[in-house]
Amino acid sequence: MSLRSVAVIALVIPLGLDLYITVSADNPLTAAPLSAATIELEQRPSNALVIPLGLDLYMPVPADNPLTAEKIDLGQRLFNDRRLSRDGSISCQSCHEPARAFSDGRAAPVGVFGRTGNRNSPALINRGYGRTFFWDGRSPSLEDQVLKPIQDPREMDLTLDQAAARVGLDAVTISRALASYVRSILSGDSPYDRFVNGDRSALSADEQRGLQVFRGKGDCEVCHAGPTFSDEELHNTGIAWRPSTRSGQGGALADRGAGQGNFKTPTLREVARTAPYMHDGSLQTLEGVVDFYDRGGRPNPNIDPEPHPLRLSVEEKQALVAFLKSLSGTIREGRP
Ligand code: HEC
Ligand code: HEC
Repeated sequence: MSLRSVAVIALVIPLGLDLYITVSADNPLTAAPLSAATIELEQRPSNALVIPLGLDLYMPVPADNPLTAEKIDLGQRLFNDRRLSRDGSISCQSCHEPARAFSDGRAAPVGVFGRTGNRNSPALINRGYGRTFFWDGRSPSLEDQVLKPIQDPREMDLTLDQAAARVGLDAVTISRALASYVRSILSGDSPYDRFVNGDRSALSADEQRGLQVFRGKGDCEVCHAGPTFSDEELHNTGIAWRPSTRSGQGGALADRGAGQGNFKTPTLREVARTAPYMHDGSLQTLEGVVDFYDRGGRPNPNIDPEPHPLRLSVEEKQALVAFLKSLSGTIREGRP
């Protein structure tokens, strides 16, 4: 722990005491309660990672958890360690499989003792660029997020003390190592990336038409924006809405998400490998997803201004699906 002597503005030091108080460098005194905003992020290219074509060379990393090859290695071992689950039956990888871009192919995840959850396991690629975590954005950092599945009774079901004792590391070390490994999981260098970087032959004519629909008539880029194809914001597209069986008589939310049936925009990279889709795994195919948007999502009292009915032709829908499949590239993980 590095200590810094600084005059703090969060305290008024009374007469007679030293104006300089010693605080840990990674925990400066502030008046505000701890929140996402107090996590200091450093933006710099990391020597511990090779960033594939299409992603930002600058990955934000908390100042107190710089990326190192050692932490990435340790995190990778912990990610595959079944001792982190109460009955020793699962590891992080059980729900986040490399071949599926670290999703699991199921609508609902299966945790210890066969207990099931109600939200789809998301892909874990390019999460180092994420700003909030979980479908409802309830976690502010990867360091915070990675300890939650260990403690979730429907996932791994251990206390942090139990987990620490089992692997012989303290919870902070586990958190920093797992977060570092998750940051090392990157996907880029897809046909789409090669196309936008000047290789005109990287996308077929069909895929190029799909890209036009994605950016134009489909308005997909409003939310699936930037190198990760996510604005990291919460939106209501109506997936959680269950209209009443009597038409025109309202309905109810199956999952409130962040409050109003709003969920975080997932990445679209590697989306061909991550079926089934949406926070509840309710759509089986990309064709089904495109049809959902073509209808304008599922109308409900809190739906976002987008989506709106698109009225795409059969050819436009096929092209859009072909384009989505061109977002599969090379997945890297662990140290280079
Ligand atoms: C039983 C299945 C299961 C296990 C085991 C599991 N996860 Fe997950 N993971 C999920 C589900 C489901 C979500 C989404 C939950 C939600 O949003 O409420 C998730 C979300 C995440 C996210 C957030 C991604 C994002 O962009 O929002 C990260 C990171 C993650 N898991 C890492 C891990 C790590 C690290 C471990 C091991 C310590 C782990 N998971 C173990 C099922 C699992
Ligand atoms: C208003 C913002 C918004 C717009 C516009 C939008 N999306 Fe989405 N997209 C989301 C959100 C939010 C989710 C997750 C919804 C949920 O599960 O409740 C999602 C989920 C998806 C998924 C599922 C990914 C997965 O891993 O489960 C695909 C595929 C997708 N969108 C493609 C598209 C396409 C193609 C378009 C344009 C036709 C589009 N989206 C327009 C916000 C948007």
